[in-house]
Amino acid sequence: MKNLFIALEGIDGSGKSTQVKLLSDNLKHIGHHIYTTCEPTNSPIGAMIRSIFKHQIEADHRTIAGLFVADRLDHILNKRNGILYQMEQGFTVISDRYLFSSYAYQGAHIPLEWVIAANSLSAEIIQPDLTIFIDISPEISMQRLNKGRDSLELYETLENLKNVQEKYYEAFDILKEKQKVFIVDGNRTSGFIAEDIWKEVERLINPKLPQ
Ligand code: ADP
Ligand code: TYD
Repeated sequence: MKNLFIALEGIDGSGKSTQVKLLSDNLKHIGHHIYTTCEPTNSPIGAMIRSIFKHQIEADHRTIAGLFVADRLDHILNKRNGILYQMEQGFTVISDRYLFSSYAYQGAHIPLEWVIAANSLSAEIIQPDLTIFIDISPEISMQRLNKGRDSLELYETLENLKNVQEKYYEAFDILKEKQKVFIVDGNRTSGFIAEDIWKEVERLINPKLPQ
């Protein structure tokens, strides 16, 4: 059985963590060994990024973009728990956010071409077999964030999330020949979303299934 690398994408509060869990359960059920991971990572670089998002330290958008480049390279290459290492061990890796998060979030503040070029080393090393984008209205996602949190992070404003959503689509268009993206309607209950995601992943595992 071939192990896979799958990335989940979407604006804050779109339901990524919920779907990572449901997809992981479905894949385990058919015998995959699963390693779930996320970006920003839990490495020291990821910790620095989270401190910026919590407004504990201040940094320019260009600095943040650079930190994400470094965090992603460590996420891929770390010899102890990196994505390449986990794949070599036979795990199917599911990441809550990957390259497209930088294209969309950093691309909302600095030129997208720069963000794509700055991340090209990561993109050359490993691309997901499938990127799943949970498409949800920024208004709904802001309602969820306001309900679930005491304070909001740096990028969690309605205006920013609208820009980020647009940048995701711009990046999908620019990279459509290079990266396989499945877009799922996230304005529904978790069960329906998980069902659509599972159908797509089954097609990835067995391309002979009807499209
Ligand atoms: P993310 O990882 O994208 O921030 P989460 O999975 O943590 O999103 O979901 C954000 C909030 O929305 C959580 O409180 C979660 O329980 C809730 N949620 C997730 N998916 C749905 C859904 N399809 N419908 C309604 N609420 C949802
Ligand atoms: P995350 O912890 O996934 O937040 P949420 O669960 O609310 O979606 O991500 C934290 C923030 O990091 C989120 O606002 C998006 C941002 N981010 C970037 O700006 N660039 C990136 O490359 C990545 C991976 C995340």
